[in-house]
Amino acid sequence: MSRLEIKPLSAVAGAEVIGLDGNVPIADADFARVHKAWLDSCVIVFRDQRLSPDAHESFSARFGPLKGHVLKQYLLPGRQFTLVLSNKKVNGEAVGLEDAGRYWHSDVSYEDVPPMASMLYGLEIPPTGGDTLFANQYAAYTNLPQALRDRIAGLKARHVFNYGKIQAEPGSARKPLTEEQQKQLAGAVHPVVRTHPESGRKALYVSPGFTVAIEGLAADESKSLLQELIGYATAPEVIYRHVWKPFDAVLWDNRCLMHHATTYDPTYTRHMHRTTIAGTRPF
Ligand code: OGA
Ligand code: MN
Repeated sequence: MSRLEIKPLSAVAGAEVIGLDGNVPIADADFARVHKAWLDSCVIVFRDQRLSPDAHESFSARFGPLKGHVLKQYLLPGRQFTLVLSNKKVNGEAVGLEDAGRYWHSDVSYEDVPPMASMLYGLEIPPTGGDTLFANQYAAYTNLPQALRDRIAGLKARHVFNYGKIQAEPGSARKPLTEEQQKQLAGAVHPVVRTHPESGRKALYVSPGFTVAIEGLAADESKSLLQELIGYATAPEVIYRHVWKPFDAVLWDNRCLMHHATTYDPTYTRHMHRTTIAGTRPF
């Protein structure tokens, strides 16, 4: 009998899976429980994992096929699927993305077929700061007044990567995009409310990070509607704050969550590996 335990991390999102080693192939019965916990709580945490890049990739691939990242310069050298988030420098060069996700977003929503999930694995964690916030977008949708739900039914929004803006921040170490990368980053249009393909539940799908406009509305109307929706999407009562410990592996569902990296004292090191799991077109 499996000794797997599942413990909620907050009332709104997050569960910890206890008793699972990501290095060991997961039996189908255990996987079914982990997968259900993930669908129910949108983000699951596996503490104290010791994952080589190979192990991290195969552990993540248990949940679905992996996907590369448009920012190839931040992949772990020689690898296709492991993105490095880090403030380490080697010969003055950033070894990873130092400022990833410091705004509310759902990963890569600026592509037509955004990833289903991401698994972030913390190798070095600052003693304080650098938490990740997760906002449950089922709850955000449920909290909308009925009139607002009616108003946004069927609306679509445009999502664009804000790379240029991030790069222009003082102190940004981000390298310019290649022409091919720019082409890949043309943006995408998605429903404002998406239906989760596995749970069948509705979730808000707009973010301050990537959503630039609601289609078919005048600019000021689009802006104020987005602002109103973002208020619900990021309300304190829909947020779980993940305080990292070294060797946490955190798997989140981009179809029902937004997340937000927080800052930390840059004299500390924060070094992480991320894999990305392919998704399907939002509807
Ligand atoms: C990401 C991301 C948040 C963090 O990896 O997609 O947004 O806290 N990371 O590093
Ligand atoms: Mn992210």
